[in-house]
Order: sequence, then C-alpha cells, then structure tokens
Amino acid sequence: MSHKNASRSGTFRIGGDLEVNRLGYGAMRITGRGIWGEPSNRAGALDTLRRLPELGVNFIDTANSYGPDISEELIREALYPYKNVVVATKAGLVRTGPDAWHPLGRPEYLIQEAYRSAWKLGVERIDLWQLHRIDPRVPRDEQFDAIRQLQSAGIIRHAGLSEVSIEEIEAARKVFPVATVQNRFNLADRGSEEVLDYCEANGIGFIPWFPLAAGQLTKPGSILSQLATQKGVSASQIALAWTLKRSPVILPIPGTSQVSHLEENVAAAGVELTDDEFTQLDDAGREA
Ligand SMILES: NC(=O)c1ccc[n+]([C@@H]2O[C@H](COP(=O)([O-])OP(=O)(O)OC[C@H]3O[C@@H](n4cnc5c(N)ncnc54)[C@H](OP(=O)(O)O)[C@@H]3O)[C@@H](O)[C@H]2O)c1
Repeated sequence: MSHKNASRSGTFRIGGDLEVNRLGYGAMRITGRGIWGEPSNRAGALDTLRRLPELGVNFIDTANSYGPDISEELIREALYPYKNVVVATKAGLVRTGPDAWHPLGRPEYLIQEAYRSAWKLGVERIDLWQLHRIDPRVPRDEQFDAIRQLQSAGIIRHAGLSEVSIEEIEAARKVFPVATVQNRFNLADRGSEEVLDYCEANGIGFIPWFPLAAGQLTKPGSILSQLATQKGVSASQIALAWTLKRSPVILPIPGTSQVSHLEENVAAAGVELTDDEFTQLDDAGREA
C-alpha cells in the first residue's frame, strides 16, 4: 500500500454500519474567499476532489452553506456517480455574505435543506446529515424532531451534531441516534476534550474541525517542530498524526483547495508516533 493512502489511518463505522477510512476531507475550502461564491481556481478545486478516491479518502464533509451550494455542486460534478464515497453534509446556518454565518433551525427549513442537499449531491439518501448549529432561538427539540422526521422519511441515513456540549448530545439522543459530533478540536485547542471522551465511550464518531492548527506549538524549537524535523515531515502532518492517535473515534477532515496540500495531509496517515512522542505532544498541547 502506498504511504499516501488514507486507509493507513484505519477505519471507523459511522452509526455502527457505515465504514470509512478515518482520515477524511473537508470541502469548505473549495469555494470563494470567506466561503462565499465560486472558487478562484475552479479547475484546481475539481482536481482536488477527483484526487480523493485515488488517495483512499472516502469520507467527505460539506454543508449546504459552503458557497452556499457550491461545495455540494462541485462534489457532484467531480465525483458522481460516487464509488464507495461517503458524503456528509449539514444545514442549520444561513449566509448573508463572505464570512457571515447565522443559525437557522426552523424545522421546515432544516427539512427543506436536507432534500435540497440530496438533490444537489445526486443521492437518494444522505449517508450522514449534520445539524450545523443548534439555533438558540428555536426550541432544540423541534430541531431534533426534524432530524427524526428526515430519518423516518428515509432522506437521511445517519445524523450528527456540530459545536455541541455533552448535555446537548444527551438531549438529542432522546430523539434520534447521534452518530457523529463535529466540534473544533486540535492539538492546541482542547476545549472539546470531554465531549471527545464522551463520544469515545459511546461509539459516536468525533469529527474535529480545524484539525491542522497547532497555534504556538509550531514555533521553532517546540516539540512539534523537533519531531517534524526528526521525521522529515511537516508540522501539520505531526498535528494530524497526533489527532489520529488521540482516539479511535476521531475522523479528521483537513480542508484544502490544493492537490499538493491534500497529498501532504493524506501522507500524515502514515506518520507513526511512539507512545512517548504522543505524550510529549499531548502535554505541550495542553500547556499551549
Ligand atoms: N462544523 C463546523 O462548524 C465547521 C467549521 C469550520 C470547518 N468545518 C469543516 O472542517 C473542515 C476543516 O476545517 P478548516 O478548513 O477550517 O481547517 P483546517 O483543515 O485545519 O485548515 C484548512 C486551512 O489550512 C490550509 N491547508 C490545508 N492543508 C495544508 C497543508 N498541507 N499545508 C499548508 N496549508 C494547508 C488550507 O488552505 P489551502 O486551501 O491553501 O490548502 C486552509 O486555509 C472544513 O473543510 C469543513 O468541512 C466545520
């Protein structure tokens, strides 16, 4: 097996039955500046998407709001008909301009958007649909009930949440089976560590977004830089390798619009960290 293959990250079964290679891909960066409009390099975005199956990446994360619509449409253009690829999407945020995101959790909107995502992606059923944000202005049970309705209608298979606390996950689990949780998490940003541990204990996939960041840890002389130099890899590859080793339920989705960056990120699946190296990084990350 090539060292550049996402299968080296091992596999995880989403919702207990949908197997993917753990190292996935985030399709937010294939849109315009501020995640708004068409990408400046459309051909490059399509090339990046088409490279995914060749590199063994079979888990793609997107959202109706990336563009909006553009990320989902490019995925279809590049990869349809899908061959053994799980495309996860989301709804729950609306857009008014570059970098502007607003929660919208009215159940009728969530239901409409799940159907629209299925049509844009060209699938009869969405393998994994995530509530992008719980809208604080709408009773959360109404939002969870929309998800239950979408599952009963068969338009979505598995469902997940994003940017949630343990208390919110537990409330949602009373209404539908929570298959995944997508929270911001990386070596230097450990705010969701307890949520991750909860997910691991309950077989819930944990999808860390912004997984490449390592903040101050990339400074020359840091343990991260030292390990990167020793192993002849980049600091972001070490950060990703740490994420993969942190828990077997972690499904990182590094995002890029460039084939060269994609290849570098996928190669991180083959970067081995010893237990001692992992612990040193872990300690440094907690202190950062
Ligand atoms: N649930 C949520 O609320 C939420 C929020 C944000 C993101 N997400 C999801 O999480 C995914 C990842 O998050 P993210 O895109 O914010 O963070 P990320 O994947 O950690 O970082 C992406 C950034 O790093 C650059 N990059 C990627 N690979 C690189 C490499 N090998 N070398 C140098 N630079 C590299 C990208 O630019 P280039 O394009 O130039 O490579 C991009 O600017 C998104 O695609 C999206 O699917 C979810």
